[in-house]
Amino acid sequence: MPHVALPRIETDKAWRDAARGLIARRVPPEEVTWSRGMADDDLFAQAPEEIAPTRATLKVPREFVSLAGSVVWHRDPERFARLYALLWRLRSEKGLMEDRGDTALAKLRSMEKAVHRDRHKMTAFVRFREIGARDAARRRFAAWFEPTHFTLEPTAPFFARRFADMDWMIATPDLTAAFEEGRLSFHDGEPKPDIPDDATEELWGTYFRNIFNPARLKIDAMISEMPKKYWKNLPEARHIPEMIATAHARAEAMQAAAPTLPPPRAAKITERLAAPGVVRAMADDLDQLHAEENACTRCPLYENATQAVPGTGPRDADLMVVGEQPGDQEDLAGRPFVGPAGQMFDRIAREAGIDRAQAFVTNAVKHFKFMPKGKRRIHQNPNTGEIKACRFWLQSEIELVRPKLILSMGGTAAESLTGSRKGILSRRGTIEKTAEGVPVFLTVHPSYLLRLPDPALRDDETAKFCADLKSAQAHLEELRAG
Ligand code: URA
Repeated sequence: MPHVALPRIETDKAWRDAARGLIARRVPPEEVTWSRGMADDDLFAQAPEEIAPTRATLKVPREFVSLAGSVVWHRDPERFARLYALLWRLRSEKGLMEDRGDTALAKLRSMEKAVHRDRHKMTAFVRFREIGARDAARRRFAAWFEPTHFTLEPTAPFFARRFADMDWMIATPDLTAAFEEGRLSFHDGEPKPDIPDDATEELWGTYFRNIFNPARLKIDAMISEMPKKYWKNLPEARHIPEMIATAHARAEAMQAAAPTLPPPRAAKITERLAAPGVVRAMADDLDQLHAEENACTRCPLYENATQAVPGTGPRDADLMVVGEQPGDQEDLAGRPFVGPAGQMFDRIAREAGIDRAQAFVTNAVKHFKFMPKGKRRIHQNPNTGEIKACRFWLQSEIELVRPKLILSMGGTAAESLTGSRKGILSRRGTIEKTAEGVPVFLTVHPSYLLRLPDPALRDDETAKFCADLKSAQAHLEELRAG
């Protein structure tokens, strides 16, 4: 009886080659046995001679290829035999892949699902820690992870794409993936290495505690999303027991603290919002204003954001720069325009003669609006209600700073400052006024430039943006002069 010992790396390709060879030789499923690795678990074991790969072409439905491409990474030792048995039947049973009542196929489908889920968990729960640079150009990171199935090899390319600009290693008990100088390689698994803690641990913990709403605690859903087996390697998970234990009391405290009647302050706010011409700032200094922004519940965006991101810059800045809302990095850092759009803005502003350190930089909306997707948080545009709700805070900043000119970047800032976001490309470079009479120079948002796929168009638009900033700076000089 032939035995196929598949290598532990590129197992998927080796299984396909061996299965093709066996089918060409008409070896029925009951006459073949399979294993991953040789008896001595040689990492690079090859399939034995007698069923070496063949060039015989074998036509199989695309769904089978995709099913096999996942199931080979399942931990069940029977997976290769089960796949081969299905492949054998496919030669004569047309429509088998669509047969929902077939128990062998159903079993393989559930294995495929388990592998998909395991891969998803890996992308969501791998936590890299910095381990010191080998050279100045590339930072180095390492992570320890314990997948349920053999999913490191098929999932590693995801990390290679996502973290292409750094060197990293993901160690698992079965296999280690190393990405160095843009090259991905696999090595033997290892016992959990001693990976140092780093600052991102604390950050994850703070972020996780901040996004947790005790009034919405659903323990089953939480554990199904983040199964307990992953907790020991997730820095943020050590906060879970305490958060669950205190959730009830915290939710009760929140309810007790919630006003039953609008407090006088809220009534005043509503009154002022109804008449934008007479809005005055509540707080009389920026720190106090920030504390109030952080306690804001005027729209639902506070629920999921880490914190309110206030404007930063001199209290007496002549120029105020207004963007849309904090992004992922700003939400964690608590400062506006520190991520990619901010870096783009800084570079072009410098070129245009604007010194960011002299400007008061802020956003129309103070909380990050996003949709979670795996471990990423995808930016969502704030809607008109959210922009209006946050207008109070922007107006308070304007009243405290009293800028001579506001540079409004993008549709959201334009909507908040002038009441309309329409036709921003034709209005760019012109000056309008806020309802209170402060001059507003309109231009596009720097992330618009980052999103342009065509490099030539991006260069063009970047030059136009730079010209806008130069013209805003010139206008500011005129206002200063008199
Ligand atoms: N985009 C913005 O509009 N504001 C930020 O703070 C960051 C990105």
